[in-house]
Amino acid sequence: MKKIIANFKMNFTPSMTKEYLIQLLARYADSDKVKLCLSFPYTSLAIAKFLLDKRKISLGAQNICDEEEGKNTGEINGAMLKDAGVNYVIIGHSERRKKFKEDNKSINHKIKIALKNGLSVILCVGESLADYNTLKTFDVLTEQLEAALKGLYENELENITIAYEPIWAIGTGITPTAAEIDKACKTIRNVIKEDFSQKASENIEIVYGGSVNTKNISKFKNLKYSNGFLVGGACLDLGAFLQIISTIEK
Ligand code: PGA
Repeated sequence: MKKIIANFKMNFTPSMTKEYLIQLLARYADSDKVKLCLSFPYTSLAIAKFLLDKRKISLGAQNICDEEEGKNTGEINGAMLKDAGVNYVIIGHSERRKKFKEDNKSINHKIKIALKNGLSVILCVGESLADYNTLKTFDVLTEQLEAALKGLYENELENITIAYEPIWAIGTGITPTAAEIDKACKTIRNVIKEDFSQKASENIEIVYGGSVNTKNISKFKNLKYSNGFLVGGACLDLGAFLQIISTIEK
């Protein structure tokens, strides 16, 4: 089964989410070939939770506070997400690392808080273009993974999916080759093997994200070391998103 995670980013008001989901639920039948996970802005979670009732689609948030309580005006904690019916949360997206200065330590706290509150985690890692051009992908992935997963028990990895998202591929229309994605996913598995175990490295779920679209999905769908995709821009167009899903299902 392939995992397809949609990241709606800062798009869709609650009313737009409602319209989108009504259409999606009418046109998409739950399948055992794909696991669909939809990550909405906080303000859309309630309507999405209501509409997704009884469907095999997971509901995700795009961020979580790195503290469980305290004076954090404007933040949302793990207990709030759990109580809102959220199943998982995206942590460490490169847009948050860059613009909101999220560092590996804060990302590590967020992961622990999410897991403690019964939420699964999508942990985003990936290198910049400068890192890619100077062949530092391996070093960057190793550093990000080791810092983010520090202090976790091996059994907690069952609730973590790693999203390999090269920063230079996000929203640019440019992607690595299928072989490069597989190599990076293999690197991620090797880090997990070194830090946890062979079994953990085989079982960890890894998805690829960065300009996945209707044109390139068929060449990526049979990657050896990855378990699915994280789709950003392309999920905003329902027709395109359904086409990506059905290509993966085939
Ligand atoms: P993109 O975004 O598919 O628009 O490149 C992916 C992401 O940011 O997670």
